[in-house]
Amino acid sequence: MKRTGYAGTFRKTDLGRTITVSGWVESVRDHGGLIFIDLRDRTGLLQLVFDPARDPKIHAEAAAVRSEWVIEASGEVVARSPETVNPNLPTGEIEVAARTLEVLNQSRALPFQISHGHLNEEVRLKHRFLDLRRPLMQNSLAFRSKATALIRNFLVENDFLEIETPFLTKSTPEGARDFLVPSRLLPGNFYALPQSPQLFKQLLMVAGYDRYFQIARCFRDEDLRADRQPEFTQVDVEMSFVEREDVMDVVSRLLVRLYRECQDVEVPTPIPTLSHAEAIARYGSDKPDLRYDLPLTEITDLAKASQFGVFLRAIESGGIVKGIRIPGGGKFSRKELDELVAETQKAGAGGFAYFKITEGKLASNIAKYFDEGLLAKIHGRMAAEEGDVVGFVAEPAAAANQVLAHLRGVLAEKLKLIGGKNAFVWVIDFPLFEYDDEAKRCVAVHHPFTAATAETRDLIRTDPLKVKAQAYDIVLNGTEIGGGSIRNHRVDWQEEVFDALGLKREEVGQKFGFLLQALSFGAPPHGGVALGLDRILMLMLGAESIREVIAFPKNQRGADLCFDAPSPVEDLQLRELGIRLRETKKSDG
Ligand code: AMO
Repeated sequence: MKRTGYAGTFRKTDLGRTITVSGWVESVRDHGGLIFIDLRDRTGLLQLVFDPARDPKIHAEAAAVRSEWVIEASGEVVARSPETVNPNLPTGEIEVAARTLEVLNQSRALPFQISHGHLNEEVRLKHRFLDLRRPLMQNSLAFRSKATALIRNFLVENDFLEIETPFLTKSTPEGARDFLVPSRLLPGNFYALPQSPQLFKQLLMVAGYDRYFQIARCFRDEDLRADRQPEFTQVDVEMSFVEREDVMDVVSRLLVRLYRECQDVEVPTPIPTLSHAEAIARYGSDKPDLRYDLPLTEITDLAKASQFGVFLRAIESGGIVKGIRIPGGGKFSRKELDELVAETQKAGAGGFAYFKITEGKLASNIAKYFDEGLLAKIHGRMAAEEGDVVGFVAEPAAAANQVLAHLRGVLAEKLKLIGGKNAFVWVIDFPLFEYDDEAKRCVAVHHPFTAATAETRDLIRTDPLKVKAQAYDIVLNGTEIGGGSIRNHRVDWQEEVFDALGLKREEVGQKFGFLLQALSFGAPPHGGVALGLDRILMLMLGAESIREVIAFPKNQRGADLCFDAPSPVEDLQLRELGIRLRETKKSDG
């Protein structure tokens, strides 16, 4: 390689050296004779100077160069004169007195400028190869590479074996739709892309690979959001002969190392834990943002004693009345308060009934429906102070919590309660099952391989919704960055769960026969966890979406705009797969 080193790495200590650098032309400036080219590679910028007095031919060639051309140049590293030193550039004290210039390739005019700030995302994704040339993206992917290497090293140092598992496999139930791949050799049959390596890692435990990890790609056909992609990466871990705390300990130590070495930030340990019930009661969410408190308080028992029809009707139909104290909310204008009401309605509430605390009392146009004693009790329960607002929703419990959890977030922004800190929390003691109104049966809160706690296992047959799971989620700033559980390593435990989920024996045999078989051949007790790598990197870098930390992400509609995927295929390909397309609507995209 002719190149001496990366452009952005040269300093004053290199003065006098003759170097060769290669890269892209960031800019060309003609300053009355002297031509300056800023050369860019993934480490930064370096200024090249072409002097007609030194070499008129090279100088003329430099004058013809345009932005984003690829060039190679060599020359001596010289000091810049004091008045031309650029303190904003790491290479700002030096420049290269160019003696050679080779144009390696030209570039057409770009659809956007590489150093431009904000760009439309569709344009960026369509020209991802140019978007990725931008320093912001290059930093992001370099950071990802460093973090991934660190994670891998940490796990290897801790005796984990890295083992790859297949992409062409059978559906595993992680709760999303599968991506299917038709089989040519077995026409009419389909592989499913793995939603996670869950069952493979459990089989590896049965096989005695008692500490496994994989930086694993997972595929889930679900509606996309800022923190969701149809293919994403997990740090997938499984361990044998462990209890919940052992797995949580490995993850905590990994996060401490990651933040320390990649960001110079100390994660306070132990990472606090919160039971699922506490999380829902106090924050309305199983992934609470604990950078601020803004707790929620239920007042159903007090609301019952009021004459307020909205509250009474909601309670009668099984709902709850729950509220939030807004510190200093008395200062909000009428318009601001209306906006908060609108926020709760947007999140699905019928309304938001609020009181201002003035002269030591709850004041509101609905106060007349509450007697003095009752108002005093609500005041006390909400721990409200002069100048606060307390507001309530009356809804079915799940809806009330969802609305108030949303409102907590809105208020935290509005009251500027979110600092630069990181708030990690483990949420534990999840229920094993929840009732699915559509399916009219129990479904697994995590996945069906999660074990019940020893104390509640007996309830699986009699009162499944009361069973607690040996599951844990790790939450950072209100985003679930990982989750896992201790598994059913005994066949009878696993069968009980399948029964509670209403799976027929036949179906179990078809879908999970291999798992039950494996468990019956000496499966060790085991458990594990998966961390959402893209989400962690997004939060570490303060990015708006996980697309900012993935080299080639899909857009909101699951499309790769650069490759134009998905796209129609040749008839012949379909015929070989034994597939005939049904009449489909012409795509509107
Ligand atoms: P789970 O389904 O909770 O667990 O996934 C683990 C973590 O993966 C991340 N994640 C996603 N990230 C981006 N896009 C998505 N579509 C997406 N879906 C999930 C989240 C989540 O916390 N097999 C189990 C783990 C186990 O039990 O060991 C599993 O996959 O950060």
